[in-house]
Amino acid sequence: MGNSLTTERLNKDDDRAQFRAFLGDEETRNVVDQVIRDLVIPHAAVHKGGIRSCIDFLSEHRSPRILLVDLTQSDLPLSDINELAEVCEPGVTVVAIGDRNDVGLFRELMNQGISDYLVKPLTPALLQKSLLGTVDGVSRSRQTSRLGRLVAVLGARGGVGSTMIAANTAYHIAEVRRRRVALIDLDLQFGTVALSLDLEPSHGFREALETPSRIDGLYVDRTMVKYSDTLYVLSAEENIDETCHIDEQSIDLLIQELRSKYHYVLVDLPRNQPSINRKVLEEASNLVLVSDLSLSGMRDTLRILQQIPSTNAGCNISLALNRVGEHRVGEIPIAEFEKGVGRKADIIIPFDPKNVASATNVGQPVVSRQSLVTSGIDQLSEVLCGGGSKPKRGIISRLIGKRA
Ligand SMILES: Nc1ncnc2c1ncn2[C@@H]1O[C@H](COP(=O)(O)OP(=O)(O)OP(=O)(O)O)[C@@H](O)[C@H]1O
Ligand SMILES: [Mg+2]
Repeated sequence: MGNSLTTERLNKDDDRAQFRAFLGDEETRNVVDQVIRDLVIPHAAVHKGGIRSCIDFLSEHRSPRILLVDLTQSDLPLSDINELAEVCEPGVTVVAIGDRNDVGLFRELMNQGISDYLVKPLTPALLQKSLLGTVDGVSRSRQTSRLGRLVAVLGARGGVGSTMIAANTAYHIAEVRRRRVALIDLDLQFGTVALSLDLEPSHGFREALETPSRIDGLYVDRTMVKYSDTLYVLSAEENIDETCHIDEQSIDLLIQELRSKYHYVLVDLPRNQPSINRKVLEEASNLVLVSDLSLSGMRDTLRILQQIPSTNAGCNISLALNRVGEHRVGEIPIAEFEKGVGRKADIIIPFDPKNVASATNVGQPVVSRQSLVTSGIDQLSEVLCGGGSKPKRGIISRLIGKRA
């Protein structure tokens, strides 16, 4: 182990600072500057001001991989740290500095996911030891307590609109709620996520899914296709006469990687890959189960609802009924469908062929325009994210990334 935080060890991202510090006083700033030089930390920035400036800054910018934040000026450090957690990306290593030598505070900060708490006066040796410890994984278990939320979207049968719902919900959370969202299409041959957003398929996605050793932060970052600053997509368009051998370990690694960088990871699941679906569902905090009001939809909704608890008892299921009203004659009434599957529907989305088809066929999200679909997608993102269109501050229970 060398005494330097080199680019390799920090696993450099392209558009993201590796290290940022928000510091209240000149003395601490001098120590931090010295450690940045001694450890040769690349892409480091030191800002004036403590946790308040830090929260303001991170509300508008990408989080660094390592964040050093001064709590000295804070009257309510724990509530400020909660607020910070709402704007900070998952997976960031946060080291706090303060002037209170208080074991209770130290423990509480650790419980909130802080990697280390250093009491002033700060010395170069103390800070160096702490930073090297966090990067070398000493506090890895603490970092993993805050990861992005994994949401699986599954159609009870083909063509019920699960891709439309996955793509539009991802768009809504990313654009309206300003959260970082990764949208993954696991149907490598027939998936339509990229098409519905007018994006190119990702190069190298299949390779990553077939070869777990390829999956690392840099590879995944390069494979993702950017829709906007907050929405990134992984998809493929593999030959239809080839068999793709997705490795379950790749799914695990990919999910872990994405959850450490995105507030939400939405996965559009194919129905013909039971072992892969099971792998995703085991980890998912939420499942959005989509059906239409058909008899086959009702039967398969019931079968899936019965099976999920044995795969993941903690998974929150939202039942979305889509294309409602498509068949005025012959459609199962909602109340009867709900009776048949033994639960109420959470989201009801009307059939709106004019708006859905005209948006989808030009690769635009339906929710970017007025349609009958918008209110259902809005409700669904509220279920997944909690109320309000912007992240509310100081509400611990709504911390994004907290496991359900
Ligand atoms: N509420 C709706 N109103 C009108 N058309 C809709 C609605 N929802 C989806 N559609 C249309 O239905 C078709 C199927 O939708 P989508 O591709 O999202 O379904 P899917 O469940 O993902 O299908 P697959 O099983 O092929 O993956 C698309 O043409 C889509 O534009
Ligand atoms: Mg689909």
